[in-house]
Amino acid sequence: MEIVILPDADRVARTLADVITARVQSGPCTLGLATGSSPLGAYQELIRRYRAGEVSFRDCWAVLLDEYVGLAPGHEQSYARVIRDEFTGQVDLPPDHVLVPDGSAQDLPAAAAEFERRRHEVGPVAVQVLGIGANGHLGFNEPGSSLGSRTRIKTLTEQTRADNARFFGADETVPVHVLTQGLATILEAEHLVLVATGTGKADAVAAAAEGPLTASCPASVLQLHPHATVVVDEAAAGSLAHADRYRRQLALKPDWQPL
Ligand code: GLP
Repeated sequence: MEIVILPDADRVARTLADVITARVQSGPCTLGLATGSSPLGAYQELIRRYRAGEVSFRDCWAVLLDEYVGLAPGHEQSYARVIRDEFTGQVDLPPDHVLVPDGSAQDLPAAAAEFERRRHEVGPVAVQVLGIGANGHLGFNEPGSSLGSRTRIKTLTEQTRADNARFFGADETVPVHVLTQGLATILEAEHLVLVATGTGKADAVAAAAEGPLTASCPASVLQLHPHATVVVDEAAAGSLAHADRYRRQLALKPDWQPL
C-alpha cells in the first residue's frame, strides 16, 4: 500500500483526477466510481479537463460501488442519480455505460447477482475510486463485513445513517438497507485509490492502513491488494504513526514510477 500525504483537499482531488486521466488516456477502460463527498473534487476536476478537451470518457464504462434500497427510481439521493448529476452526466461517458446495483428491485438477491454478472461482463475495473466511512466502512461494507463478501444487501449502522443524513431533506429518512459490492468484489479492481480528507477520517485511515487486517475495519482489506493507493490531506493523515516514513518515500519516489 502506498500512502500519499498532500497539503490539502485540492491536491488530493487533483491527484485522483491525474490517476484517472492517465488510465483513460491509455485506452478504453472501466472505472469504478464512488459517491459521497470525498471524490467530488476529483470529479469536478475531471469535468473541467473534459470541457477543456484534455480527456474523453466516450469509450469508458463506469461501475458504482453501492446503492440505497427502497428509494424511488430517480430519487435525487439514489446513487444512480448522484453519480449522473455529479460526474457521468457532465462528461461524454455514454449514459447506458453506467452500471449501478438496482436498489429498487423486488428481488434484491437476484439484483445483486445480476450486478456481479454485469460487472464481470464490462470489467475488469481499471481504477476503483474509494472513500472511507468514519467507522472504516468501504462502499457500504460496515464493520463486521466478510473480507470475502460479494455484492449483497447490508444494513447500515446508525452512525452511517447519521453521517449521510446531511444529504437528505429534513423530512426524509435515510434508508436502512443498501446493496453494496462486497469486499472481495472491490479487491478485483486493478488499482484501488482511496481518498480521504479532514480530521474526521484520521482514525479510520490509520486503522485501515496501519491497524490489523480485520472485518472490524473493512477498509483494512486494502492491505491485501497488490496495488492500493491511499491519498490523504494532512488532516486525514493526523493519526498515522508512520507519516514521516510515507512522506520520505513519496519524496524519494522515482519520476518514472507513477502512483
Ligand atoms: C458513504 C458511501 C461510501 C463513501 C463513504 C464516505 O456512505 N457509501 O462509498 O465512501 O460513505 O462518505 P464521504 O466521502 O461523504 O465522507
